[in-house]
Amino acid sequence: MSISTITTARAGADTHVLSTPGQLPGLGVLPINAFVLHAREPVLVDTGLAATASDFLQALGALVDPADLRWIWITHADADHVGALRLLLEAAPRARIVTNYLGLGKLALQQLPVDRAYLINPGQPLDVGDRQLLALRPPLYDAPETMGFLDMRTRQLFSSDAFGALLDRSYESAEAIAPALLRERLHLWATIDAPWLHPLGREGLVRAVRRVADLAPERIFSSHLPPASAAVSALLAHLAEADTAVPFVGPDQAALEASVAELTAA
Ligand SMILES: [Fe+2]
Ligand SMILES: [Fe+2]
Repeated sequence: MSISTITTARAGADTHVLSTPGQLPGLGVLPINAFVLHAREPVLVDTGLAATASDFLQALGALVDPADLRWIWITHADADHVGALRLLLEAAPRARIVTNYLGLGKLALQQLPVDRAYLINPGQPLDVGDRQLLALRPPLYDAPETMGFLDMRTRQLFSSDAFGALLDRSYESAEAIAPALLRERLHLWATIDAPWLHPLGREGLVRAVRRVADLAPERIFSSHLPPASAAVSALLAHLAEADTAVPFVGPDQAALEASVAELTAA
């Protein structure tokens, strides 16, 4: 994956997105998003990639003084979500890391200090001063500790990897993506990120999507899609039929060598 620079933008009510376009050769552009929620007790949602950690800190500093951060919500312990966490533990000495017991274990395995953790489980609220954040399990995910949340005041859903899409380029919003492309690329990402969605079956998939649809989110902030508002109902509908996509099989060694040879010849 090659990485370009981090961009920041306002996204909905009192929220900023910090986004890095991740280039996946042969597959497309995967936005890698973190969010700042300017609650009375400011919340950072995920921390980007390790390769861009110092850029991330600089971009973050233009949105909020890290010393004021009270919570760092780690949706799961994947490398594209915990990149700047080590630096942030120093830069944000008042912040507690929100995770669950398995997340805590995985952070410990990555030798991240865990004495600052704050454990919460899906279904429990986190009080951030002027609102409650309801922890929840997104419909699809690639790590069992994954927890997103619904901001109960603004009804913004922070969905972690779910609702992500491998795109043809960077976009500022989900609404700017052509509808058919959004559906196709959301399905592609869903089959890569959650290869268990086919065995889950249509009924299970619909049930999983309905759990979050019933919370009536007004915006969806995925870790891997530009911010969505008008597109929320389309995203929910697309994910509920992601099993119509062909299960993803990545290139094997022969295919990899062929594409490397093609690149070298070009
Ligand atoms: Fe992930
Ligand atoms: Fe991710």
